[in-house]
Amino acid sequence: MSRHLFVPVVMMVVSPIPGAFQDSAVSPTQGEFEDLDCGRPEPSSRIVGGSDAHPGTWPWQVSLHQGGGHICGGSLIAPSWVLSAAHCFVTNGTLEPADEWSVLLGVHSQDGPLDGAHLRSVAAILVPHNYSRVELGADLALLRLASPARLSPSVRPVCLPRASHRFAHGTACWATGWGDVQEADPLPLPWVLQEVELRLLGEAVCQCLYSRPGPFNLTFQLLPGMLCAGYPEGRKDTCQGDSGGPLVCEDGGRWFLAGITSFGFGCGRRNRPGVFTAVAPYESWIREHVTGSEPGPSFPSQLQKPQSGSWEPGEENCTFAQPECGKASRPGSWPWEAQVMVPGSRPCFGALVSDSWVLAPASCFLDVPIQQPRTSDSSPGDLEAWRVLLPSRPVEERVARLVPHENASRDSASDLALLQLRTRVNLTVAPSAVCLPHPEHFFLPGSRCRLARWGRGESASGSGAQLEAQLLNSWWCHCLYGRQGESVPPPGDPPHWLCPAYQEEEEAGRCWKDSSWSLLCREEGTWFLAGYKTFSSGCLRPRAFSPLQTHAPWISHVTQGAYLEDQLTWDWGPEGEETEEQICPPHTEHGACGLRPKASPAGVLWPWLTEVHVTGNRVCTGILVAPGWVLAATHCILRLGSTTVPYIEVDLGQAGASSPPQGHQVTSAPSLLCQTEGGPWVLMGMAVRGSQELFAAIGPEATWISQTVEEAHFLHPSGSPYWPSEDSDLCPQDLAGAASSPKVAAVFLLLLAPLIQG
Ligand code: ARG
Repeated sequence: MSRHLFVPVVMMVVSPIPGAFQDSAVSPTQGEFEDLDCGRPEPSSRIVGGSDAHPGTWPWQVSLHQGGGHICGGSLIAPSWVLSAAHCFVTNGTLEPADEWSVLLGVHSQDGPLDGAHLRSVAAILVPHNYSRVELGADLALLRLASPARLSPSVRPVCLPRASHRFAHGTACWATGWGDVQEADPLPLPWVLQEVELRLLGEAVCQCLYSRPGPFNLTFQLLPGMLCAGYPEGRKDTCQGDSGGPLVCEDGGRWFLAGITSFGFGCGRRNRPGVFTAVAPYESWIREHVTGSEPGPSFPSQLQKPQSGSWEPGEENCTFAQPECGKASRPGSWPWEAQVMVPGSRPCFGALVSDSWVLAPASCFLDVPIQQPRTSDSSPGDLEAWRVLLPSRPVEERVARLVPHENASRDSASDLALLQLRTRVNLTVAPSAVCLPHPEHFFLPGSRCRLARWGRGESASGSGAQLEAQLLNSWWCHCLYGRQGESVPPPGDPPHWLCPAYQEEEEAGRCWKDSSWSLLCREEGTWFLAGYKTFSSGCLRPRAFSPLQTHAPWISHVTQGAYLEDQLTWDWGPEGEETEEQICPPHTEHGACGLRPKASPAGVLWPWLTEVHVTGNRVCTGILVAPGWVLAATHCILRLGSTTVPYIEVDLGQAGASSPPQGHQVTSAPSLLCQTEGGPWVLMGMAVRGSQELFAAIGPEATWISQTVEEAHFLHPSGSPYWPSEDSDLCPQDLAGAASSPKVAAVFLLLLAPLIQG
């Protein structure tokens, strides 16, 4: 949007100090600010990917408190002035009252007695008149303290850059703050100030990075007055709670406030550097608003002029960092496959998620008594004997720590545990880590996936590592397993289930009941651990997997370095149907009836259609109306005049997928299905013997059907249970009176091994 929004601010070159803009004329120690030395920490002694700062290293760093807690950072620029970010003080377009805020100076650890620190109340907050939202720039604020700060080695102002100051691209600068150490992961006690080294990125490079669509096709337009710092590969960044805090760069032995932490896309993500408010363009705004007799802020002139070209905006291409995880030379040979060996039990399969953490089902270890070490350096009790085998590693890894999910239990959707290796492994081609999805990751229907070995479950007939799968439409999956009338989580909200369809189980012709798998899905050649299934869902298919994305915050909190990656594909197709709110249709106790997957990989277009094989090589279609019952035409089952029931076999879940064996006679018995508004299909009629077009209505048989099959689910095409009256039929009105409707001649087949949902 409006670049011009910014213009009034930079154009207001009204300087209270004439001549102050000729930076060559004023030496750093000369002039009106002589008495106030800035940007020099007393020589002494997270932020994402950072480390504890030494006390006194960043004496201008202040903490802004509201309601007794740290909200934002800020920088002391003069004894009575702090520079911070506008968005810390503006909510819904309104500036919060200054008296709600206080400034904590000279603080290092925010836990316990604040030795040497002191507090000041805020007398006024000034925000540029053109500030509206962070993405539109001008995100800075001046805070006037009610009384001047007490300057000391741990409380000193930072230098401000003049408008003409140029920070060269690639300069290593430092950001500091008490903000989150990862997305949604607060700085742990004792809340020690974090520092991180960030490199300044050229405007063009930053714009180039942000022009590449991220999840949900998001791009971002960088505006004048913004500055980027970080790395294409991410991992080091500022985060929530660091806002308003400093990004400082050294020049001639002084630290200059180059930027103010403003915003970013997530924290530490690949190709998404942090965005800061550039301070230099606001020289005049700052000078204009900082008034008073006491020493004001210092704007020393720049000593080291960057070589020309290294700071000018120009045509710069950027190199996009590629994911460092999820690369497999060929599907099936997983370089992250980890086998956890616990003495006395079969190996448990898990996945390497960072250079020192393995994710595996907690159920593998639930019956193993674990003596956790009290402190991280004492020797772990039982874990001593555990070993982890990784691909291409001749030596087995030792286990330092086991962290089960707090809700882990054998049958829960949180059946996860993290195992920390004693020593970090060198991640190469193998072993390497699998990518994990962020909470808002949305795997697209139709995604190419694989089922991999997971936990200790029976591996599926030896082919466990190779099973190919395709993700089904989330609506279909959700409504099959979810409750009636529930709304389907929209993209961006974590799904409750992921349903992959795979053929092998069907082809094997049996139900792999106790198998447990992880679901790996590929996006642009990168493999993600999308879900896992350990609990039994009986034989109901498609199988429902628990999505892993829900656990991303827990995993990143525990591991502090797992490979969480943004969604790499986001094409929902032209209709974008997945983005509309959808409600699940009516349900039976066995899940929703009459739902059909949009694209079925197994070629099963009508999942309730069954193949009824009758002795004498006859094949006809039957309709699954409940887990234990198939409805078929009488003439298909019984020969005219015969009363003996032949031997019958029913094939489920693959009708139409293959042609019937040679020499089989196909007795077709088409059925008439109507789709209701809510989506489910309703069986309306069955073809009359010998006809493909004439159908006998099912309606009149409702009583017989419901008496035979209690759990059969009746649904009128309009969505509410309803049956046409006895004398109505499916003929057009004018014909209805003329001809008497044919009667349905159908039989029920009671299945010996019904489909049961566990
Ligand atoms: N807006 C955040 C705050 O209020 C700062 C976020 C910085 N994010 C980043 N990825 N650099 O604290």
